[in-house]
Amino acid sequence: MPEAPPDEPPALHVENVDVTYGRAVSALRSVSLTVPHGAVVALLGANGAGKTTLLRAVSGTLRLHRGAITAGRIRYGGTALDGRDPVAAVRAGVVQVPEGRRVFAGLSVDENLRSGGLGLGRRGRAQVQEARDRVLALFPRLAERTGQAAGLLSGGEQQMLAIGRALMAAPRLLLLDEPSLGLAPRMVHRIAEVIREINGQGTAVLLVEQNAGMALSLADHAHVLEVGETRLSGPAGELARTDAVRRLYLGEAAEDQGAA
Ligand SMILES: Nc1ncnc2c1ncn2[C@@H]1O[C@H](COP(=O)(O)OP(=O)(O)OP(=O)(O)O)[C@@H](O)[C@H]1O
Ligand SMILES: [Mg+2]
Repeated sequence: MPEAPPDEPPALHVENVDVTYGRAVSALRSVSLTVPHGAVVALLGANGAGKTTLLRAVSGTLRLHRGAITAGRIRYGGTALDGRDPVAAVRAGVVQVPEGRRVFAGLSVDENLRSGGLGLGRRGRAQVQEARDRVLALFPRLAERTGQAAGLLSGGEQQMLAIGRALMAAPRLLLLDEPSLGLAPRMVHRIAEVIREINGQGTAVLLVEQNAGMALSLADHAHVLEVGETRLSGPAGELARTDAVRRLYLGEAAEDQGAA
């Protein structure tokens, strides 16, 4: 893998990554992808394809899963992330929003947000305040509810909080694991807008989704995983036009079948 010159904006490089859980379950086989600086890259695939596993490998949270073994290289800018822990990833600027939101239900919105800045070492009060202000400007619904217990928020609001909590660490690359899952269409639309806004502010996004329509509308590039291997890769607009993606992930009839 080429080393980036020090003044070049950082990109994520995942190269030939294998992940096995214990001895039996091979979750990823030789998966490679790149997230260029400032880009949105979508990772699509059915249940069990290995999407979450890939995000865990990048964010270091795979180390929290006993028996997981990784091979291959993962690098963000000049920092090697393979085999590192989540704190190393956060310090490098890479933060994951976990699947299923997982906010701290008993803590307030504000306490949840502040927990997102932990692990970064000492940051001045002003920096934390600034990050919080930015997050609350992005999510006015959270701003109205800072004292409320997170467990009482709606599903969409909890998703916003989970994203907001990750943004408190001021990531340069945000890893999003199925942010649209279980949300009503209006809220899915809102989440898509938020992702666009975050990206517009200069944060790259690796977006795992089963909602291929939403993901492909946001992404520059996309990859489709199938049982642990990359099945398709390409510009998002091109993938959205392939028969396999339209049939399997966009729920459309393939062109040749649709002809009357
Ligand atoms: N902690 C674990 N221990 C053992 N096997 C695991 C573990 N986590 C995931 N797996 C297995 O690894 C494979 C990939 O799982 P993963 O969660 O990465 O898929 P996914 O694409 O995110 O699926 P989904 O869309 O359902 O979230 C699956 O076969 C799963 O059962
Ligand atoms: Mg998953």
